[in-house]
Amino acid sequence: NRYQLWGGCFEEEPSRVLRRLNDSLAVDTRLFREDIQGSRGWAAELHQSGHISVEDNKSIQEGLNMVEKDIEQEIIQHGRLNDSEEDIHSVVERRLFKYAGDAALRLHTARSRNDQSATDTRLWMLRNLPKLHSALKELITVLLNRASSEFEIITPGYTHLQRAQPIRWSHFLLSHAWGLRDDVIRLEEQKKRLSRCPLGSGAIAGCALTIDRTRLAGSLGFEELTPNSMFAVSSRDHLVEFFNWTSLCGLHLSRLAEDLIIYSSQEFGIVRLSDQFSTGSSLMPQKRNPDGLELIRGAAGLLLGDAVGFSCILKGLPSTYNKDLQSDKELLFRSYDRLLDCLKVAAGTIATMDVNSERALSALDPGMLATDLAHALVRRGVPFRRAHHLVGSALKRASTLGVDLRHLPYQEYHTICPEFGTEEELASVFSWETSVEQYTSLGGTALSAVKHQIEKLRAWLEEP
Ligand code: ARG
Repeated sequence: NRYQLWGGCFEEEPSRVLRRLNDSLAVDTRLFREDIQGSRGWAAELHQSGHISVEDNKSIQEGLNMVEKDIEQEIIQHGRLNDSEEDIHSVVERRLFKYAGDAALRLHTARSRNDQSATDTRLWMLRNLPKLHSALKELITVLLNRASSEFEIITPGYTHLQRAQPIRWSHFLLSHAWGLRDDVIRLEEQKKRLSRCPLGSGAIAGCALTIDRTRLAGSLGFEELTPNSMFAVSSRDHLVEFFNWTSLCGLHLSRLAEDLIIYSSQEFGIVRLSDQFSTGSSLMPQKRNPDGLELIRGAAGLLLGDAVGFSCILKGLPSTYNKDLQSDKELLFRSYDRLLDCLKVAAGTIATMDVNSERALSALDPGMLATDLAHALVRRGVPFRRAHHLVGSALKRASTLGVDLRHLPYQEYHTICPEFGTEEELASVFSWETSVEQYTSLGGTALSAVKHQIEKLRAWLEEP
């Protein structure tokens, strides 16, 4: 009655230190439902294909129900399984013996932990990735709701973090929503490759007993089967895809977080985070720190690290199962939990923050209308490159006189170039509203173009 499932030809127990490195129960306990689900399907298939009796199948099915209840209870009570087995597959099989007796000894017929573990992980992902999907859509909805109610706010747009052009605040929010929407689509696209059942691949060669893999896969809810047993036990491509996806999604969240961190600094003051989504300092009573956003920004690095780390594990591995692959689950759970938390914190932060439209407005300066002045000249027939230069001269002149573009006397403009128009025409350029309203073409920051984006995104969100 050795602890391992596989101890038959061994004289001694593995060393303690090897066990510490080898045992994965602390991590893969999280797969217990999927492991039991897979075993239910496997036993049923063994029975339907004539390899185990109706009674044995019944004992196994009932036993698995009991094992599931036991494990649930133990996790509720202790937060973990107090068991000396090396992994969740061993725990389930060993505990089944308690309830199903000798029938339990037939469960692993023609199955390997190689196809079993691969199946469990895919089932877990199929069950849980939809939570990331909903959290992403929730975040997009929050951005969209704000964007729909904050049309009026005009704020500086930055490139190189230097004041660039006035934009609608909604346009900024939507810029993040669009990237996240692509993440949703990318997540959906992974499902097709994820939803392939590896069970029946055995350790490497396939299943020596005749079984109906299509029926088995269907009973577990998979859309397809893995088409080659060696590919099935080797491939972690769905995880590589997932990790790279989480890291891209992390990058999007990091950019959003960084923007808001900057906007919430006192120097900008465009955004004020709610109490719920900011933290204080143990020393400085006045502090309101954007820790949540900073952790999101940091998480992007960790997600990327896990994506790279996992690909490094695969690089150089020979075909089929090698124990290196065991860490797929540690990284999966870690990245999954991290990203899910980040999505929720981002949504909460954005839903509850205040936007200070006065501050946004006062951060705009007339220099940001330099491009508009150039465009005004272009509309009067001046070639753009020359217009750019002429406005540059006006900026230089204003700086010499110690005024901004708006307060540069009309006469100065007229001297530089008569195409600046009449005094009234020139004055009409100096309006934030007029400025943003020029950008009506698709994807621009004018009200109509912003509303169009909102309609598009809403329609997409409402698609079934
Ligand atoms: N705990 C192992 C894993 O998750 C199960 C597969 C073990 N297979 C083996 N041949 N040792 O990867």
